[in-house]
Amino acid sequence: MYIISGTASKNIAEKLSKELNEPLAKTVIKRFPDNECYIRILDDLKGEEVVIVQTTYPDPNIVELLLIQNAVSEAKAGEITVVIPYFGYGRQDKKFEMGEAISAKAIATHIGLNADKIMLVDPHKNHILDFFNVSAQECSPIYEMAQCLNKLDVSLILAPDKGALERAKHTSKLTGCEYDYLEKKRIDAKTIEIKTKNLETKGKNVAILDDIISTGGTMAKAISELKKQGAKDVTAACTHGLFTGDAINKIISAGCNKIISTNTIQNKFSIVDVAPCIAKSIRKNIIK
Ligand code: R5P
Repeated sequence: MYIISGTASKNIAEKLSKELNEPLAKTVIKRFPDNECYIRILDDLKGEEVVIVQTTYPDPNIVELLLIQNAVSEAKAGEITVVIPYFGYGRQDKKFEMGEAISAKAIATHIGLNADKIMLVDPHKNHILDFFNVSAQECSPIYEMAQCLNKLDVSLILAPDKGALERAKHTSKLTGCEYDYLEKKRIDAKTIEIKTKNLETKGKNVAILDDIISTGGTMAKAISELKKQGAKDVTAACTHGLFTGDAINKIISAGCNKIISTNTIQNKFSIVDVAPCIAKSIRKNIIK
């Protein structure tokens, strides 16, 4: 087996190579002066099982992945597995308004063309897996996240909306703490409203756990509501830390005590490593 790292996921691919004791393929990945991508794989992949690791965010990383897949397929590799730590465009997973593209489906269709198996870390919605025309599965880092929240002595894990409740519930089972959800209402693309219901948060060490932090709007609103109620410490935790614009300032100004994310998108808050959960899935489903 060879592991091939895209430039967006070097860190995870290197860790996977160590965990699985399988080599990283030697590659040349560069950009032409006009920024078009160039890919060359130096190892002979003929008949080899290949695991490609690449987050599909931001956009240039999608093209890079498609070219790596093409090079692998041209090299007549055996089974091709594509591991996508963060699958971009996942939030446009249906037509919310007439005439819209289903972006998640469009991207998945293209990636599925040169792959036998797909693994997504914590996709925004599970039905995204069905958009690939090959077998696709989820890889969940809740065990790794729970270990981290345990160290922070969190006593209540909150989902920022009802849709994110399962993640909070499973994580809380592993940490042995309470869980619940907040009521989130989207007013428009930039405005949301969060209600804390009648939750008992006074003096508690609370974590809000979401799949994505993008503008930080959801977290900031939730944190200030919880602080108003008297929560002691509030941790903002997510799988995929996009932190666009002034997200970090917004979250800190709202009273956040700690921000944590996984390394699906590497940033300064990436203290939870997803490589172990991906390695576990590969051992279970790929290595024969
Ligand atoms: C929404 O459905 C997602 O699960 C996240 O809650 C959302 O993407 C967070 O975005 P933002 O940080 O911009 O509020």
